[in-house]
Amino acid sequence: MKKNLFPVLMVLALGACQPDTPTQQPKLSPAVTAPVVAAPPPAAAVAEVKAAPVSEDAAMRALAQKSLCFTCHTIDNNLVGPAWSKVAAKYRGQKDAEAKLVAKVAKGGGGVWGNVAMPPNSPKVSEKDIQTLVGYILLLK
Ligand code: HEC
Repeated sequence: MKKNLFPVLMVLALGACQPDTPTQQPKLSPAVTAPVVAAPPPAAAVAEVKAAPVSEDAAMRALAQKSLCFTCHTIDNNLVGPAWSKVAAKYRGQKDAEAKLVAKVAKGGGGVWGNVAMPPNSPKVSEKDIQTLVGYILLLK
């Protein structure tokens, strides 16, 4: 009987040891990998929070840049064309301003701000993008 119990005890002893080894190893590896895995989310979250207030303005400026408006315009200073902040001030509160300016930007034209005319921006710039840009310009302070 004693002889027969020994392997059983060995199996029990090994069985008691074996679960320990696998549980110890996974315990170590999450502890090692956790900081590495956890690091990017907080960084991304911070970037998102920082970007949120300027994201629309940044997107509008990028669209204006892409549409080549900034070859002739800036937000705050006259260049070839009038400063967009001045355009906003001139048309503030005028109901038909948006439609009028969308047509003007699309077809081009002059005589409002000086002797230099704006060349047509359509169809290089889509009607939708022109509308978006004019909407943005009219809300500038
Ligand atoms: C080649 C130069 C040039 C480019 C490119 C240009 N503009 Fe102009 N823009 C002008 C000039 C010059 C005027 C002034 C026209 C006038 O006096 O009537 C003007 C006027 C304007 C006005 C005011 C129009 C008015 O009647 O008061 C708006 C709005 C405007 N531009 C938006 C844009 C947008 C949006 C783009 C890009 C899609 C753009 N412009 C690209 C030269 C340019």
